[in-house]
Amino acid sequence: MMSTTSRKIAVVTGASSGIGAVYADRLAQRGYDLVLVARREDRLQSLAASLAAAHGVHAEPLVADLATEAGQAKVAQLLATNPAVSVLVNNAGIARLGPVGDSADEDLSAQLALNIQALTRLTRAVLPGFKQRKQGTLINIASVLGLHSLPISAVYSGTKAFVVAFSNGLAQELEGSGVRVQVVLPAATATDLWAPSGVPLEALAPATVMKAEHMVDAALAGLDQGESLTLPSVADARLIENYNVARVALFSAAQTGVPAPRLKA
Ligand SMILES: NC(=O)c1ccc[n+]([C@@H]2O[C@H](COP(=O)([O-])OP(=O)(O)OC[C@H]3O[C@@H](n4cnc5c(N)ncnc54)[C@H](OP(=O)(O)O)[C@@H]3O)[C@@H](O)[C@H]2O)c1
Repeated sequence: MMSTTSRKIAVVTGASSGIGAVYADRLAQRGYDLVLVARREDRLQSLAASLAAAHGVHAEPLVADLATEAGQAKVAQLLATNPAVSVLVNNAGIARLGPVGDSADEDLSAQLALNIQALTRLTRAVLPGFKQRKQGTLINIASVLGLHSLPISAVYSGTKAFVVAFSNGLAQELEGSGVRVQVVLPAATATDLWAPSGVPLEALAPATVMKAEHMVDAALAGLDQGESLTLPSVADARLIENYNVARVALFSAAQTGVPAPRLKA
């Protein structure tokens, strides 16, 4: 396991491909040492070697199946005990798209375990150290499908809605603590996520699909600008503001204590 040094460590889950591999590269460019988490050790090893050579950082694989108790515990242990950890990118995630009634139980469980449970547990593990050190950055990868459901995305959207709500609560909880929270909501991004999802990447309109490099660079620009919720492909920032205003207004409007007149029997 990586020893404690004066350098800062970024832990990236799901670093063996797609968005996570790009985060690893960009964080190495920013001078972070890396712990790269996923199941495919060969890919993690070759990425670690190439990032170390390209950016002069220390990078090491941490092989873990984050859909399992043992895998979550292994990564949580590192996060809770290594004080050099200063960035956690909770990126590992899967999509299994299709009507709920036609879905395999194991596909439902795998999405809940990885997209929700692992992300929550790893966050829980890293936070006490972040708070004690009064610094740290937590980046949670949700999806624009966390704000919207399609007929084939009820479970996936539900898991990503959790990530949005969880991150929103955390950002408020941690205000003034020195700990940053950013939730990133990508739209379609060209990665390996699609093939096993049931919807091949080729089925999407090409103009709607972003390169993973562009997505991550935009998300990091959002982080640098202090955003706590970043929609990398949304040009009109007023839409995001309107969404937040409507959300808070609806919550406030619910505090009446009496049934709405239209619902009176
Ligand atoms: N691509 C999109 O259009 C899109 C849009 C919105 C949000 N997102 C989100 O972006 C994140 C990254 O996805 P991606 O698009 O980059 O897909 P990807 O290329 O398929 O990458 C997924 C990563 O998660 C890892 N992973 C999968 N199951 C795992 C497990 N049980 N334990 C540990 N690691 C596991 C994979 O590595 P191993 O297989 O080696 O374990 C891989 O590194 C996900 O949270 C996804 O929901 C993607």
